[in-house]
Amino acid sequence: MTDLDSIVEDAGAAFSVAITPADLENAKAQFLGKSGRITELMKGLAALPVEEKKSRGAAINQAKQGVEAALTVRRQALADAELQLQLKAEALDVSLPGRQRPQGGLHPVSLTLERIEAIFGSMGFDVAQGPEIETDWFNFTALNTPEDHPARSMHDTFYVEGGTDTAPNLLRTHTSPMQIRYAVQHVKKHRALIDAGGAMPEIRVIAPGRTYRVDSDATHSPMFHQCEGLWIGENVSFKDLKVVFTDFCRTFFESDDLVLRFRPSFFPFTEPSAEIDIQFQAGPPAGRWLEVAGSGQVHPNVVRNMGLDPEKYIGFAFGMGPDRLTMLRYGVNDLRLFFDGDIRFLSQFQ
Ligand code: PHE
Repeated sequence: MTDLDSIVEDAGAAFSVAITPADLENAKAQFLGKSGRITELMKGLAALPVEEKKSRGAAINQAKQGVEAALTVRRQALADAELQLQLKAEALDVSLPGRQRPQGGLHPVSLTLERIEAIFGSMGFDVAQGPEIETDWFNFTALNTPEDHPARSMHDTFYVEGGTDTAPNLLRTHTSPMQIRYAVQHVKKHRALIDAGGAMPEIRVIAPGRTYRVDSDATHSPMFHQCEGLWIGENVSFKDLKVVFTDFCRTFFESDDLVLRFRPSFFPFTEPSAEIDIQFQAGPPAGRWLEVAGSGQVHPNVVRNMGLDPEKYIGFAFGMGPDRLTMLRYGVNDLRLFFDGDIRFLSQFQ
């Protein structure tokens, strides 16, 4: 083997043990670098006689090409290996099941509230929200329920600190305080017109929201929902209450022949008063009357507390239980399921 052949062979061996591109560059320098073996041989040519120079030069050149070819092969091999590694590391397993993003949805009671708002909205009712922590005045006194009134005992609630005449001190036991709050605002807005004897635009509002009582069993929760309704004008009668509420229930339950019963009852803030029952022919509570709301003609004292003259303005109010409506609509028999937060139960309504 000539010295040139062994250089090419050495180069091939040195290149093949190079694992990284940097290794390979170092190995290349040993042969083709400034003082590499091939370069040194080239430098030595100068000292040779002319006729030898030519043939020796050609031989060195050939060896150089051999080294370069080996270098190129190894470079390509390293690049391929690198690519394979990268492909492996970034491999996509298209057979893996996709990652699901669980989709949230509205709570069944929220679905009912939306439905109530849509139906009453279509009948021209405004939707109002009020505070859950109330004053004694709005929750009781303004609603014709003075401090010593026995009806207060049915509305035992949770009291919070504070409780001056203006500071809220109790969790509201019903949405009825919104009758006063909304009407007072409405009257304030139209005061000039009312004082001038003009026709005040009617008060027509529903007020859904959370309410609280010291009560807890399968059909009572210490936190529950109510939706108040109020319609006050110069000529609003009990008949209007029956029509509006019957229409609402038939639309809500999608049943044109739903039968309602207005059963005489008592509330301090309405006179006369009625509980509203729905008769269910089919479904779990077949043939039974189920109470869905309290209602009545707004008491003159309450109309007065709204800032209106009860001789001129009259109307009705109702307070229904959206939780109860949700149970009836979906056939759920335990109210507590709505507030346990069990996703297996709640996801059935999506
Ligand atoms: N606020 C009453 C209750 O919670 C219901 C009601 C509202 C009755 C409006 C009459 C008028 O029981």
